Amino acid sequence: MRQKEDFNTYYRNIWLDRWDALKDAFAGESDYCTLEEGLLKPYFLDKASTYPAKALDVQRGDSVLDLCAAPGGKTLILALAKGEAGTLVANDKSADRRMRLKAVVNEHLPASIASTVHITGYDAATWGLYQKDMYDRVLLDAPCSSERHVLSSPYYLAQWTPARTKQLAIRQFAMLAAALDAAKAGGRIVYSTCSISPLENDGVVEKLFKKRKDMFDIIELEPEIGEKTKYGIQILPDTTGAGPIYYCCLEKRYG
Ligand SMILES: C[S@@+](CC[C@H](N)C(=O)[O-])C[C@H]1O[C@@H](n2cnc3c(N)ncnc32)[C@H](O)[C@@H]1O
Repeated sequence: MRQKEDFNTYYRNIWLDRWDALKDAFAGESDYCTLEEGLLKPYFLDKASTYPAKALDVQRGDSVLDLCAAPGGKTLILALAKGEAGTLVANDKSADRRMRLKAVVNEHLPASIASTVHITGYDAATWGLYQKDMYDRVLLDAPCSSERHVLSSPYYLAQWTPARTKQLAIRQFAMLAAALDAAKAGGRIVYSTCSISPLENDGVVEKLFKKRKDMFDIIELEPEIGEKTKYGIQILPDTTGAGPIYYCCLEKRYG
């Protein structure tokens, strides 16, 4: 199948000798973890997915925006950290996925915290036009190439083209610029994807540097698991058994 060859060639050119190990790891089981403490019932998610949410460092009573929230694993982590005070806006453009998000929030969070979570359905890329300088914390867990998923699905593999990652990177940049606009001065933004395409990870942050370098600083994090990239951290399954996840932490400057 042509797409499979193109896909392999594209990622082998990026990851060189590591590509075979990555591909094998994608085919294996991911390292899952269970969120339990503070929840009404357990929630299972890839262990790597917890790190971007924890890197946001949400404090009690914060105002938090989760721009691409469904199905809601990271939303649960943010909501528990925020507690009963403050607000959490959990947004997702897809109506179907929003239904799942609503169910996840209501079935897992105690009512006193679930009542502070507001679910919305706007386009993350235009958020900054309507709300600026509003949130202490903003998570952008962006739609991405999701190569692990593409490799396991003949349907998605058949639709894959090398242009896809470039188009996604353009959308992700618009969303990251909106996330930066939505954060308060001094507020923290975490950008994350489950892609292994550098265009969608450090490439998006690099573009933000070119266009808005006076507006933010990178917060350097020491990875508990994973490896550092130019701007963020990448957790890859060949070495950790979890992921892939990329995340990068920004702080909006004052004035
Ligand atoms: C990587 S998933 C989010 C996973 C979620 N954060 C979690 O931890 O469960 C990306 C989400 O972005 C949503 N999405 C795609 N385009 C969007 C847009 N323009 N605005 C808002 N959400 C969007 C998708 O429906 C999808 O649910």
